[in-house]
Amino acid sequence: MRSKKIRVIVYGLGAIGMLIAKHLYDKEWAELVGAIDIDPSKVGRDVGELLGLGSIGARVAHDDEAIGFIKNSNVDVVVHTVTTYLDKAYKQLEKAINAGAHVVSTSETLAYPWYRFPDLANKLDALAKSKNVSVIGTGVNPGFIFDTLPAFLTSVCIRVDRIKVVRSIDASKRRYPFQKKYGLSLRPDEFYDKMKKGEITAHVGYAESIMLISSMLGVKIDRVVEKQEPVIADKHMKTKYFDIPEGHVAGIRGLGIGFVNNKEFVVLELIASVGRSDYDEIIIEGVPPLKWRNEYGTSGDIATAAMVTNMIPKIVNAKPGLLTMADISIPSIKVNI
Ligand SMILES: NC(=O)c1ccc[n+]([C@@H]2O[C@H](COP(=O)([O-])OP(=O)(O)OC[C@H]3O[C@@H](n4cnc5c(N)ncnc54)[C@H](OP(=O)(O)O)[C@@H]3O)[C@@H](O)[C@H]2O)c1
Repeated sequence: MRSKKIRVIVYGLGAIGMLIAKHLYDKEWAELVGAIDIDPSKVGRDVGELLGLGSIGARVAHDDEAIGFIKNSNVDVVVHTVTTYLDKAYKQLEKAINAGAHVVSTSETLAYPWYRFPDLANKLDALAKSKNVSVIGTGVNPGFIFDTLPAFLTSVCIRVDRIKVVRSIDASKRRYPFQKKYGLSLRPDEFYDKMKKGEITAHVGYAESIMLISSMLGVKIDRVVEKQEPVIADKHMKTKYFDIPEGHVAGIRGLGIGFVNNKEFVVLELIASVGRSDYDEIIIEGVPPLKWRNEYGTSGDIATAAMVTNMIPKIVNAKPGLLTMADISIPSIKVNI
C-alpha cells in the first residue's frame, strides 16, 4: 500500500466537480488540496464549505492563478471537469500539465481526441511527454458504458461480428447541466437551432466511443455516423428544473454507428428522456454471443465521479503522454492503494 496520499485539485467545481470533490474527501488515499473555478460565488472560498462540510483547508483559486496554484500546492493529479470540447479545454489542460500534474478529465472529446482534434491531441501528447505526466479523458460515457465495458466483454469471444449498446436514461433524474444540454422544455425548432449553433450539445462522444472500441479490439472502422433527434413530450411533464409543455422536447434519441466494410460493426443507441426506464444493454453478436443487461441503469453522475476518482491511482503509475482507456489496465474501484 502507498504511504503517501495522492494530492488532488479539482479544476471546475460544477455539478460533477463537486461530486468528485466529495468522493475525494472521503478517500483514505487522497488529499483534496484545492479547486479552481471562475464562478465568483466559489472563488476564494473553502471547498469543504461549498460541500457543507465546514473548512477543510482546500481553497478555490481562480483560473487566472491556476499554474502557480497547482505548482505551489504540490499537486499530483488535476481532475478536470470544465468542458466537453478539447479546443475549449486545451488552455486549462496545458496549465495543469505545465504545472507538472497528471490529468484525469471528463471532457468527452478527450476520451479519443484524435477523432475530432488530431492536431491538438498530438500537441497535448508531446507536451505531456515533455513534462513526464499522463493525461486521460474518461467518465461513464465515453469511458465506460459505450466503450470500455463492451470491449471488456469481448475478452471471452473468439469472434465478434457486431456490438450493439443501448443506454436508456430517465433524464428527469439527472443534474441540471445534463437536462439543459439535452434541450429539455425547448420547442423542437429551438432544439435544432441551438444544436446547430452549438448552444446545446445533447450527448457528445458516440464517435469517441466507437474509436475507443476500434483501438481496443484492433478493428479498423471505415466510417462513423452520428445523429440525434428530440423526443417530444406527449403530455405536460415536469422535472426538478424544467416545465415541459406537450409538444416540447422531453429528451433525445441518439445514434452512433461505426462501419467496417460498409457493415455496421458498432451501434450505440442513447435514449434519454423524462420518465424513461433506466437500463443499459450490451449485445455482442459473435462466438459465443453475449447479452449483458443492467436493469438498474448506471447512475451517470455517480458513475462519472467514481470512474474519475478510481482512475487517479492508475494515472500516477501510467506511462507519460496522452492516454485513452485502451492504455489502462482493467478499471475497478480502488479501496486501498
Ligand atoms: N465523460 C463523461 O462520461 C462525462 C459525464 C458527465 C459530465 N461530463 C462532462 O464534464 C464536464 C463538467 O460537467 P458538469 O455537469 O459538472 O458541468 P458544469 O456544472 O457546467 O461545471 C463546469 C464548471 O467549470 C467552471 N468553469 C468554467 N470555465 C472555467 C475555467 N476556465 N476554469 C475553471 N473553471 C471553469 C464552471 O463555472 P461557471 O458555472 O461559472 O461557468 C462550472 O463550475 C462537462 O463538459 C460534461 O459534459 C462528462
